[in-house]
Amino acid sequence: MIQFIKKMTLGLLVLMLSFMIDGCTKKTSERDTIQESKELPAEVNLALTPPMGWNSWNSFGENVSEQVIRETADAMVASGLKEVGFLYIVIDDIWQGGRDSITGMLYPDPVRFPSGMKDLADYVHSRGLKFGIYSDAGTQTCGDMPGSFGYEKQDAQLFADWGVDYLKYDYCYCPDYASENNDYRMAIERYRAMGDALKATGRPIVYSICEWGARSPWLWGKEVGGHLWRTSYDVYDMWDSPRNESSPIGILASIDVMVNLGRFAGKGGWNDPDMLVVGLKNTGNIRGGGCNDIEYRSQMSMWCMLSAPLMIGSDIRNMSESTRNILLNKDIIAIDQDTMGIQGFRVIRKDGLDGWKKPLSNDRIAIAFLNRNSDDMSVTAAWNELELDSAIQYSVYDVWEHKTVSHAEGSISTKLRPHECQVFVFSPAKTE
Ligand code: GLA
Repeated sequence: MIQFIKKMTLGLLVLMLSFMIDGCTKKTSERDTIQESKELPAEVNLALTPPMGWNSWNSFGENVSEQVIRETADAMVASGLKEVGFLYIVIDDIWQGGRDSITGMLYPDPVRFPSGMKDLADYVHSRGLKFGIYSDAGTQTCGDMPGSFGYEKQDAQLFADWGVDYLKYDYCYCPDYASENNDYRMAIERYRAMGDALKATGRPIVYSICEWGARSPWLWGKEVGGHLWRTSYDVYDMWDSPRNESSPIGILASIDVMVNLGRFAGKGGWNDPDMLVVGLKNTGNIRGGGCNDIEYRSQMSMWCMLSAPLMIGSDIRNMSESTRNILLNKDIIAIDQDTMGIQGFRVIRKDGLDGWKKPLSNDRIAIAFLNRNSDDMSVTAAWNELELDSAIQYSVYDVWEHKTVSHAEGSISTKLRPHECQVFVFSPAKTE
């Protein structure tokens, strides 16, 4: 009985928390947001906008090495990616050599990381970048390496001593007590254990929760110290897939999961629909058949409309011209990184057309049209469909064509290729 009451109390707490978050974010005006940011606790300042960087998993998997990381850090700087905001270099799973049976200390694979993690972190920092690593809330990681369960404090301190700035924390090898509805509680406890341990180190470390959205981490992620939480299973290099029921999924399925989650995202805590597959071209560690450049551009567009963390998964040491153009587009990145931190929401869904809207700073609004169909599509959207103020005259800027476009009085028309997403920034020209 006592157990039952405890479970009910926790359930109620989670529910109340979600209503509080909901109530706070729904009515956010720009002024409120600015005032709030002054009162935010220090650790929240870590991810005031969605984190941007690169992660080793999609391209390298178990072949990640210090050489790959050093070369990637160099490429991040040389390509200009650092300049446009990509800062974190995150080593994903299978960097571990094991856990010392006497000291309990984790150590990296001595063949692939002969200089050790401190040395590697120093190198990444010397390039003006930040260093990230991966572990798991269970006894083992998803790649069967030692997990951090029971070693949270020791591992967090080790990561801090190495100079880690970002931890991705996975959820494999955690027992599932879903039948007793205990699964949520266990996830909250385990993520809190690492969240507390990271805080206790005193080092600012971005905490990336990766339990794939199955236990609604948007309800409790921030409360356990998280700065981002995965909303879906792993996005592979493919446009569409069955729904978000297990890995892998496609770009479109991951977008659809985000539809009703906007109210849980904001400064310091972001919904994470997984990494960018832009530029993978069906190579590397995860496959899926590959996407074309229009589809890659659509992923980038929608991730920015959704205020998603932008973690590149392709090999940036060898980027094609088209991949470069997609990843280095400052205009689309500015939408992701806008200081208001408001996740876009869907305002149109008809005949395979999605219309998305994202309020931006300085009274601007980003509008995206996404063609889900495999045929060309002509679109005309009136201001009322886009929930725009008809009393305002807008200047409309196309963020992929990098130019101001003309439009009819009170509506905008465009043509979309199959799976294409076009994004426009509406700025008030003058008020009548
Ligand atoms: C899980 C995560 C992936 C990746 C792998 C590593 O599947 O969802 O993003 O980190 O584990 O094993």
